[in-house]
Amino acid sequence: MNSPGSALVTGASSGLGAHFARTLASSGRSVVLAARRIDALHALKRDIEEAGGAAEAVALDVTDERSVDDAFAALDRAGVRVDVVVNNAGLTDARPALDITAAGWDRVVDTNLRGVFLVAQAAARRMKDGGGGSIINVASILGHRVAGSVASYAASKAGVVRLTEALALEWARFGIRVNALCPGYVETDLNRDFFNSDAGQALVRRIPQRRLGQPGDLDGALLLLATDAGRYITGTSLAVDGGHLVSSL
Ligand SMILES: NC(=O)c1ccc[n+]([C@@H]2O[C@H](COP(=O)([O-])OP(=O)(O)OC[C@H]3O[C@@H](n4cnc5c(N)ncnc54)[C@H](OP(=O)(O)O)[C@@H]3O)[C@@H](O)[C@H]2O)c1
Repeated sequence: MNSPGSALVTGASSGLGAHFARTLASSGRSVVLAARRIDALHALKRDIEEAGGAAEAVALDVTDERSVDDAFAALDRAGVRVDVVVNNAGLTDARPALDITAAGWDRVVDTNLRGVFLVAQAAARRMKDGGGGSIINVASILGHRVAGSVASYAASKAGVVRLTEALALEWARFGIRVNALCPGYVETDLNRDFFNSDAGQALVRRIPQRRLGQPGDLDGALLLLATDAGRYITGTSLAVDGGHLVSSL
């Protein structure tokens, strides 16, 4: 059996991606931090190393096929074998469906869905001959249910859920597991102000557990899917949402 390779986290420059990278590094994994903001990645790399972990930083724009190829080629040249991918890079464009522009639609779908596919494919081409691996696509509970003013986002995340199933089916024979992690609303720097507002608090009251998620609430699911503990799990979509998906209609 191969010794563990590295875990690549896209969108590691902030929010959940940075948290996922820290969690994997704390569990003893070497991590590859990927995003467009390379300065933020280097700062996180220093933090992880100071805490005793191992990290590399690589510039990556998931919407750019060339950038994805270049990042994986650079890792190949450096002898870095990636056997866990956390496809976390993503963005939203909150506006009523009547106001969505074609360019805005493309930005969301290119990042959240096409980007997930390009990174998964580049990784799987290597994992196929390298002993397999685990791909974790970060979708959302909005991949399963809808809310107002997030049509492009919800469509992209539903696409991620179905893409996950299709890739799991095709790649199981290569020892590659593909699963989706579907967070509910998780507090990060970007959404903290909203969740402190009246509208944000009203939303929190609709979550059965009556609280927002914290990044650490995702650690159990992340580590389950990333490690051998989840060896028989593939093609699934795991919600971590305080029960939000089963809230009363
Ligand atoms: N927070 C939540 O409540 C929540 C709930 C459900 C799902 N999610 C999902 O979790 C993931 C992370 O969300 P977050 O809340 O942590 O958001 P965030 O803080 O805005 O982080 C998004 C990350 O994606 C990266 N990114 C965006 N476009 C990219 C591109 N073209 N290429 C490479 N990286 C790109 C950004 O890095 P650069 O700008 O440096 O490239 C950034 O690091 C997203 O997929 C989101 O949909 C979040």
